[in-house]
Amino acid sequence: MIEIPSFQNIEDAALKGAISIRDVVKIYDPKGLAVMAVDHCSLEISPGEICMIVGPSGCGKTTLLKAIAGFHEISSGEILLDNKFLCGPGQLKAKPGPDRVVVFQNGALFPWKTNIENVIFGPIMQGTMSRPIALEKARQMMADSGLIGVEDSYPGEISSGMRRRVEIVRALMNEPSVLLLDEPYRALDSLTKSVMHEALLQIYYKNKTTIFFITHDIDEAIFLGHKVVVMTTRPCKPKKILEVDIPHPRDYSVLTSRRYRELIEETIDSVHEEAEKAFAAGEKEG
Ligand SMILES: Nc1ncnc2c1ncn2[C@@H]1O[C@H](COP(=O)(O)OP(=O)(O)O)[C@@H](O)[C@H]1O
Ligand SMILES: [Mg+2]
Repeated sequence: MIEIPSFQNIEDAALKGAISIRDVVKIYDPKGLAVMAVDHCSLEISPGEICMIVGPSGCGKTTLLKAIAGFHEISSGEILLDNKFLCGPGQLKAKPGPDRVVVFQNGALFPWKTNIENVIFGPIMQGTMSRPIALEKARQMMADSGLIGVEDSYPGEISSGMRRRVEIVRALMNEPSVLLLDEPYRALDSLTKSVMHEALLQIYYKNKTTIFFITHDIDEAIFLGHKVVVMTTRPCKPKKILEVDIPHPRDYSVLTSRRYRELIEETIDSVHEEAEKAFAAGEKEG
């Protein structure tokens, strides 16, 4: 069960991590064949918000995430973080920084390092923490995330669900403003997923980091999100934005509530329509 945190509403959350995506266009141009992945996309994400992004495969979700992370340039528009320029006119590629951390579906922990050594790797490499401080913080964060007793074992010795948790703890060690998650639980079975959702919320309630979370799973989107953004088929832009008016903290009792089912239904039609369009256009897994 989720421990009851000291705040109930997003208004109480940390005042950092506001993302403004303004009129962003991204066109890939492999060998002169222009592929528009993001089409005049605008989206405002509040500090401390869990913003869930759903949309058909290949619609451009990862492209948008990578633009925020600074992995590639946008073609036009601009992206701000806490009202500070990340990319836009004059500098189309954001500089990657410790304020934005990405966890991908196939996140990689170093298999030859213990779990706790993986968690402290970043701060030690970047010189942002001394080793004793990093170890202390890592132990605390791992304990908060239900990772007690696995600190000194290796990633190969724990379950895939636990590995995902280690990755998220590792991502949060430097207290980023934004956590960017690209289908982190896609490969997990539904039972493991449900445990992961509660574990993620537990971590979130402690850190209140803004979360930009891409998923295919509508249940996951409604259960976790303050807001669910349904993207159009490629090129993507928001088609529908749902405010999930189920109060946090949430636990699995939410799943049987009438409001939860209503929100699922509201989302499903919109997602399904776009998935059909994508299918007709022959989009492949992205
Ligand atoms: N590096 C790239 N070069 C060319 N096209 C790309 C590249 N990366 C992605 N694309 C194309 O852009 C579209 C959006 O991809 P992506 O953002 O990965 O979609 P999603 O994450 O929603 O599944 C797809 O049609 C994909 O083939
Ligand atoms: Mg993707």
